[in-house]
Amino acid sequence: MSHINYVSIFAPDGSEFFVAAAGEGRPLILLHGFPLDHRLWTHQIQSLSHDFHVIAPDLRGFGKSTLGDGFSMVQLAHDCEFIRQKLAPQGPIVLGGLSMGGYVALEYWAHYSQHLCGLVLANTKPHADDPTAQAARLRMAEEVLVQGTWPTVQGMLPKLLSTTTQTSRPEVVELTRTMMAAVAPQTIAAAQRAMAQRRDFRSELPEIAVPTLVITGQEDPLAPPDATAEWAGSIPQHTFHAIPTAGHLTPLETPQEFNALLGQFTRQATS
Ligand code: MLT
Repeated sequence: MSHINYVSIFAPDGSEFFVAAAGEGRPLILLHGFPLDHRLWTHQIQSLSHDFHVIAPDLRGFGKSTLGDGFSMVQLAHDCEFIRQKLAPQGPIVLGGLSMGGYVALEYWAHYSQHLCGLVLANTKPHADDPTAQAARLRMAEEVLVQGTWPTVQGMLPKLLSTTTQTSRPEVVELTRTMMAAVAPQTIAAAQRAMAQRRDFRSELPEIAVPTLVITGQEDPLAPPDATAEWAGSIPQHTFHAIPTAGHLTPLETPQEFNALLGQFTRQATS
C-alpha cells in the first residue's frame, strides 16, 4: 500500500479542505456522496495508488473540511478545481464522483472540461429534483437543525447498502454509520438545499466529449441499473456497468469489482 498523506489546504476565503492523497502519476480525483466523507474511497486510495495519484477530499463541511458560508454544487466544483490546482496542477485528471459527488463532477465538467481526460459517474444521476423531492429536501434541511444529524439521516442507511452488504459486511455498515453520524447538522442542511437547487444535465449529456465510466449497483434503489443505463446511453463515449450484490455505495461494498473497472478505465483514459 502506498503511504497516505493527509493534507489541509487553505482557500483564500479561509475555508480549510482536508484531503487524503496517495501514490504518484496520473491524478485521479474522487468525490464522495452525501452524507459521507473521503473514507468512502478507502479501498480506492489503498489499491489504485499503486498506479495513480489518488486524491480524495472531504467536500466542504464534510469530514474534517470546514463549511464556510455554505455551498452550491457549483461552489463544490470550484472547490475541486482549487484542490486540483494545489495538488495536481499538471496534466489532465480523471474525475470520479459518487451520487452527490457525481452532481459535483458534472458541474466540474461544465466549468472545467479542459482539465478532464475521463469522467466517472458512480451511483448518480443527471436529473434535477422535481418539486416533491425539493420539498422533502427543504423539510430535512429544517428538521436536522432541530433534531440533530443521526435521527434525521438514519432512515437513509438501508437505502445506501445492499441486503448482501447489510447482512454479511458489518464493518461496512459500521463505517457508513460512522461517516453519516459525524456530519454536522449545518452541513446536512446546506447539502440538502444545494442538491434541491442543482442543475439538470440530461440535455447536455451528448456534449460530454471525454470517455465516461458509469457504474451503479444492481441493488441500488437510488440509481437503479435500468434508469442509469438509459441516461448513460446519451453520453457518446460511455461504458456502463451494474455491479452485482452492490447497493448505492459500490466503492465500499464491492471494492474489487469497482477497482478493476476504475483501474482499467483510468489507465486507458490517461494513456
Ligand atoms: C448521495 O448518496 O450522495 C445522495 O443519495 C444524493 C442525493 O440525496 O440525491
